[in-house]
Amino acid sequence: MRQFLIAGNWKMNAGPKEAKALADQIAESWEDKDTNSEILICPPFVSIPFVVKRFRDTGLKTGAQNVHTENNGAYTGEISTEMIHELSCEYVIAGHSERRAYFFETDELVAEKAKKISDSGLKPIVCVGEKLDERKNDIYRDVVKNQTEAVLELLDSSDASQLVIAYEPVWAIGTGETATPEQAQEMHAFIRNLIADEWGQEASESVRILYGGSMKPGNAEELLSQPDVDGGLIGGASLKEESFSEIISIAE
Ligand code: G3P
Repeated sequence: MRQFLIAGNWKMNAGPKEAKALADQIAESWEDKDTNSEILICPPFVSIPFVVKRFRDTGLKTGAQNVHTENNGAYTGEISTEMIHELSCEYVIAGHSERRAYFFETDELVAEKAKKISDSGLKPIVCVGEKLDERKNDIYRDVVKNQTEAVLELLDSSDASQLVIAYEPVWAIGTGETATPEQAQEMHAFIRNLIADEWGQEASESVRILYGGSMKPGNAEELLSQPDVDGGLIGGASLKEESFSEIISIAE
């Protein structure tokens, strides 16, 4: 039976008070579910301890949205993998398109973050995906290839079971303009083949590839039914307990 990873990326939403309330709603809804899926929430840093506390002993997991490549030092405003470990997180998102755009994170820096996350015993969720003009100009495969191969070059096949890649077409993030199931499957299979070429078929099947970009209850079933879609990385719909719970139910 397939085990999906259903992850919520809360982005810069839900400070401690709101996060506690939302985590409470999700945990209560989760108690009634009998699902094989792995469920993860990535809150803002300041809210992680509150979500971890509420999720304790529920099987629900918590992750971070970013990390620095160094362990400590003069990096004002940054967070290290050791600190994230101390917070009892299991996953860390790296290279979200918003960080690539607003904080100029390059393919190389994202790969270094993924390596640091993996080496520290945490699980990297590396975001890849093309912008609308890159799709329109038919260079989207090249973009995703460069983003993915930068990670494959720094990590190795022994990291495969810990590595998660989230294919998030930038033009689908927060827009309501979701990729079609066929578009999602094409790129997930493309990414899986890139991994197979570099790390071998077995490793490529160990890496989980999530879809992100306006996944909602209305399209989750079609997307999750695609053979190379191993789950979702969900933004807006994860901030509404009923929507997030409905997607979890669909993934059962
Ligand atoms: O990381 C997931 C996020 O980028 C997707 O956002 O709101 O389109 O589900 P959204």
